[in-house]
Amino acid sequence: MNVHEQLDALESTLKKALKNANTKADLQDVKAKYLGKKAELSTMMRHMKDLPAEERPAFGQKINQAKQRFAALIETRRHEIETASLNARLKEERVDVTLPAPNYRTGRVHVMNQIVESIEDLFIGMGYLVKEGPEIESDLMNFEKLNLPKDHPARDMQDTFYISDDTLLRTHTSPVQIRTMLDYGGKKPVKIICPGKVYRRDDDDATHSHQFMQIEGLVVDTNTTMSDLKGTLLEVAKAMFGEDRKIRLRPSYFPFTEPSVEVDVTCSNCDGVGCSVCKQTGYIEILGAGMVHNNVLKASGYDPEQYQGFAFGMGVERIAMLKYGIEDIRHFYTNDLRFNKQF
Ligand code: DAH
Repeated sequence: MNVHEQLDALESTLKKALKNANTKADLQDVKAKYLGKKAELSTMMRHMKDLPAEERPAFGQKINQAKQRFAALIETRRHEIETASLNARLKEERVDVTLPAPNYRTGRVHVMNQIVESIEDLFIGMGYLVKEGPEIESDLMNFEKLNLPKDHPARDMQDTFYISDDTLLRTHTSPVQIRTMLDYGGKKPVKIICPGKVYRRDDDDATHSHQFMQIEGLVVDTNTTMSDLKGTLLEVAKAMFGEDRKIRLRPSYFPFTEPSVEVDVTCSNCDGVGCSVCKQTGYIEILGAGMVHNNVLKASGYDPEQYQGFAFGMGVERIAMLKYGIEDIRHFYTNDLRFNKQF
């Protein structure tokens, strides 16, 4: 066999070996066998010294050319193997976007909290702070300091769960007014709303619940007037029931305010014309309010000669029921998903 034949034979066994090499490791073995130190090409190169001097350059050139061809063949095969393995991976890892997705059920904010949060946002935008107070309250804070002494007939307006003679479940959020004013030491202006749960000894029915939510508002400053109160409540009515709403104030009575008013909003169902929702009056009562009673300011350390204030209190369930046409207050607390999911 001359050199030519020898190299051709070697090349054809290399090609066969490459065809059978399917992994990078296989390829590494083939490379070692055909181009490594113990490869036949290397052995042939080492025998070059046995040749006559004039034949050596041509021989060396042939070996080197063969080396380059072999290397190129191996490189081509490496490329093929890499492409094939990439394609296999892409195929295996392909996401089938047509598969039905698992049904993740997400929770949502309860309608009560939605209303509370939107009213909070409205008032925070007007510079109010949000304050909270305890649900287990003293008779002193819940009644006495709100100008409702022990034998006051107006205590009957709020049937109370007593824990002891002077501890109770708060019947309204108004005690947070007192706590805040006491906290402020009679010196600073106050501008707060107080959302929270309240309790009354009522028999539960479509419009009564022994536990419900209120939002209280209180502003105390040296130049607070009833028109500030009216303007503020008009903003609330518009935010809750729509830009076209109007409000009216009716004289009323609360021990903690003087004068006291009941606030009505024009019925959004009939736009004030009169319908079954507003019992043909065109108006719906939404909250109680008034100018803070002098006795309340005094009991909380504020000098009525210097400070005046307005206050208001609204029932959150009532607002939600009017806004969404909900007929039974018990829906808010029975956790029927068919109800909760609608909001
Ligand atoms: N606390 C009253 C209630 O629960 C609501 C209320 C009326 C609060 C007038 C006020 C107010 O601050 O000024 O029935």
